[in-house]
Amino acid sequence: MFIHYKEIWKQKLASAVNALLEENGVTETIAASDIIAEIPPQSNMGDLGFPMFTYVKLLHKNPPQIAQAVLAKLDTGSSVAKVLGPYVNIFLDRAEIAGELLKEAALGKQGSLGRPDTLKGKRIMVEFSSPNTNKPLHLGHLRNDILGESISRILAACGAEVRKVCIINDRGVHICKSMLAYRLYGEGKSPESECIKSDHFVGQWYVQFNRISKEDPGIEEKAQEMLRKWEAGDEDITALWKKMNEWAINGIKETYKRTGISFDTYYFESKTYLLGKNEILKGLENGIFYRGADGAVMIDLSAEGLDNKVLLRKDGTSIYITQDIGTAIFRYEDWAFDRLVYVVGSEQQYHFKVLFSILIKLGYIWAKNLYHLSYGMVNLPEGKMKSREGTVVDADDLLNDLKELALQEIKEKEREEAVGNPEAIAEKVALGALHYYLLQVSAPKDMLFNPKESLSFNGNTGPYLQYMGARISSMLRKAPMPTATSTVQPELLSGDAEWDVIKILFDYNNTIAESAEKMDSSIMAAYLYSLSKAFSRFYHDSPILHAEHPDLTAARLALSEAVLFVLKDALYLVGIPFLEVM
Ligand code: ARG
Repeated sequence: MFIHYKEIWKQKLASAVNALLEENGVTETIAASDIIAEIPPQSNMGDLGFPMFTYVKLLHKNPPQIAQAVLAKLDTGSSVAKVLGPYVNIFLDRAEIAGELLKEAALGKQGSLGRPDTLKGKRIMVEFSSPNTNKPLHLGHLRNDILGESISRILAACGAEVRKVCIINDRGVHICKSMLAYRLYGEGKSPESECIKSDHFVGQWYVQFNRISKEDPGIEEKAQEMLRKWEAGDEDITALWKKMNEWAINGIKETYKRTGISFDTYYFESKTYLLGKNEILKGLENGIFYRGADGAVMIDLSAEGLDNKVLLRKDGTSIYITQDIGTAIFRYEDWAFDRLVYVVGSEQQYHFKVLFSILIKLGYIWAKNLYHLSYGMVNLPEGKMKSREGTVVDADDLLNDLKELALQEIKEKEREEAVGNPEAIAEKVALGALHYYLLQVSAPKDMLFNPKESLSFNGNTGPYLQYMGARISSMLRKAPMPTATSTVQPELLSGDAEWDVIKILFDYNNTIAESAEKMDSSIMAAYLYSLSKAFSRFYHDSPILHAEHPDLTAARLALSEAVLFVLKDALYLVGIPFLEVM
């Protein structure tokens, strides 16, 4: 939506520059896309600034002289252009731009929402969450989940065909640990009998295992033995494994549903863990890999600034990276992607560097398009989370706590009646608070999640954005019906507060495209905040329903509608539920 006026002015500038070049006998021409448009540092310097430095070489004049000459050739229409030192600055005709905005917003309302098409026709696979089936999701997963879900929505908004995938880590010794503890102490019990969410039930046995192993280190070997039996297809073990995995996965999926996360494809490590071995053996034959002194297959990545890395153990068993090599190839064969994004914690940065360089060495050209969307740790202010001791910040518990806090707030404000269903609203406020807080920090940074702060209604928070949406919605509900004769007059929207809002609305598509290009949802989050703040200023300064004149009311309502439209759309891109009332 909203073809940016910047693009239109780049065209105009290109025409003026080219006319000037031609006049000076220069055969070279400038494309509109090469024109640099800046936002002047102060609003009294205009809305757009075009630097002239680049043309010095071509015209052999100084930038201010060039600026004067370009100005003379520029078709400014009803806007005003001025030379400011080495720049040509534009003071836009606000009424004209406001008119454009309202026209497009009206189109958008009819469902023809224009989107950036920067990724049109591209296939992008996004892998995220990727939990293990020995325990429920924790706070780190919540960050991972919303990063993956949000970036997928943003990429799709740019026209990409996105496939969201999740690889469930359902095998290995850690899975056997919860199985073993259950078998020793829990046989006969079930999530139903204990009235506990099924993934939490499984997680308790994992915690139990670690408790036992402190007193009885021998139990570790028993878990290894169980893994060997599982690999050999032992019937009893397989049955237990199936049962416990189902519990874990069903519980985990409930949490996804609650948080609005979904996947197109689930992969299961138990089905993919043998992939990759053949690739390693082929690479060994081709001399890409070598056999180490102890018989393990290795790769020397010192030329890439990485180490020597084992790819197959001496007993021929594969390791984490072997599987990832196989899985990537398998995925590409299944669905030839233009890009594969892995949303995985920053502690695995080295792993992904190695993975990507190995695939390139194996000759897979597409491996150049693999991307690790790395994110930092999340902790609560109280302290570190560790899953072994069972002091991990559990995702469901945290969601419940947030919901409880939000509910309290609704009660304190005596909004129970007004919101209709306080429970449902509290749940959505909790999600809004969580997702915004997690996304607003750029992914690579470690962060603290502060539940109280995340829920504050007046700060840089999710609920603040939701509140803004509810406020506009409520105003529009109270608005007079437009009369047949009333047409909106965009020239009534040229005050400074309105103008700020309009400029931000025009930046919407560019912001989506930029977030996609930089793989950074925090850009979208920041956009939402600046839009809400600008609207709030406008709302504060300019009476809308009680404006001096009905025409003014009509114009301001039309602008508010456009804001609501963009706000809703942008909230969706960052996984914050929109609320009509709160
Ligand atoms: N389940 C793994 C873990 O908990 C993360 C998997 C990441 N994805 C991958 N393709 N390696 O560490």
